[in-house]
Amino acid sequence: MILLTGGAGYIGLHTAAVLIGAGHEVVLFDNFSNSKPLGVERLEAIAGRPVPCVQGDVRSRQDMDGLFDQHSISAVVHFAGLKAVGESAEQPLRYYDNNVTGTLVLLEAMIRAEVRRIVFSSSACVYGDPDFSPVPESAALRPANTYGRTKLMVEEILRDLHIAAPDWSIALLRYFNPVGAHPSGLIGEDPNGIPNNLMPFVTQVAVGRRPELRVFGGDYPTPDGTGVRDYIHVMDLAEGHRAALDWTLCDPREVLAANLGTGCGYSVLDLVKAFERASGQAIPHRIVARRAGDVAANWADPSFAGQRLGWTAQRTLDDMCRDAWNWQRQNPRGFA
Ligand code: NAD
Ligand code: UD1
Repeated sequence: MILLTGGAGYIGLHTAAVLIGAGHEVVLFDNFSNSKPLGVERLEAIAGRPVPCVQGDVRSRQDMDGLFDQHSISAVVHFAGLKAVGESAEQPLRYYDNNVTGTLVLLEAMIRAEVRRIVFSSSACVYGDPDFSPVPESAALRPANTYGRTKLMVEEILRDLHIAAPDWSIALLRYFNPVGAHPSGLIGEDPNGIPNNLMPFVTQVAVGRRPELRVFGGDYPTPDGTGVRDYIHVMDLAEGHRAALDWTLCDPREVLAANLGTGCGYSVLDLVKAFERASGQAIPHRIVARRAGDVAANWADPSFAGQRLGWTAQRTLDDMCRDAWNWQRQNPRGFA
């Protein structure tokens, strides 16, 4: 059985759908601090059968030991954590506690249960403002915010653990910009409050929840002046987790860090145009000042994941927009 911590969240639900489809048994574990039980019910509708989900906190030794006692777990995919960059600057201790302490408590429980395979949700933000794109895994690691530092700390903790315990198999997956939704429209991204990220903001404008998109900066040194990113369909990302999990299950006994991105950079205006094409909805938008902390352009060199995990992203920007819209149109208020 595969444990998905934070499995009721956006990427966890999509990964669970892919793993179940591939024949894995999964158990989700979540404290529902940023997700809702309805998401798990929707996953069960996709899977066509019940999916075990345990409510608890990765920071609780009691919760973690109970989980490993009750389930025969062979590997862990560790999604549980907090992910809002701005909030991480305002509440740094909460972020270190959830993301770093939470991982330490999980790892100690794994050691007690003799589980030595883990796939960790890292982020492209470990690179900060990269010197060039496409960004390879060998690029300098210098996160520019608290959230990114929590991710890099966990990467380093896992590397130190591997030095002390070389029989562990550890995949560090550095996600670029996950967007889109399951093609059924039953599960998708459901941010609390005003979305910080571009795609959920665009879909909320399309569905009438927000009047217009503010495009942060029109004077970047990019082809159209707006920021360029590597958007990756969440189903491709989920398949990347399946590839990484299958790799750990072969017991390679190494630490592997891999970018999960498409290798293509698209600007904010490219995404808006693609979304308008996919949805038939006009997205009113206006260029405003740059957002503090943003970089001009950032996209992945994903070739290492291709070589080592046999995984490459398959879906296009149009697919991402179509599926994001399908989800938001069917669920204008998300899982509420
Ligand atoms: P999400 O918030 O939708 O999912 C995270 C889940 O973890 C939520 O369901 C939340 O309730 C749960 N959780 C948080 N703290 C917990 C705790 N202490 N104990 C138990 N459960 C806890 O986020 P997501 O987009 O699915 O991201 C999953 C992971 O991927 C996170 O670690 C995030 O940092 C990382 N990541 C996300 C992105 C992105 O753009 N979505 C990019 C890079 C990395
Ligand atoms: C952000 C996080 C990053 C995280 C990633 C994926 C920051 C500084 N970085 O990256 O750590 O891994 O999300 O979740 O927050 N934009 C607008 N208008 C909006 C929202 C965004 O123009 O309302 C623009 C941004 O300026 C950027 C692009 O859209 O050029 C993408 O923004 P966003 O979706 O927030 O992702 P990142 O900033 O790349």
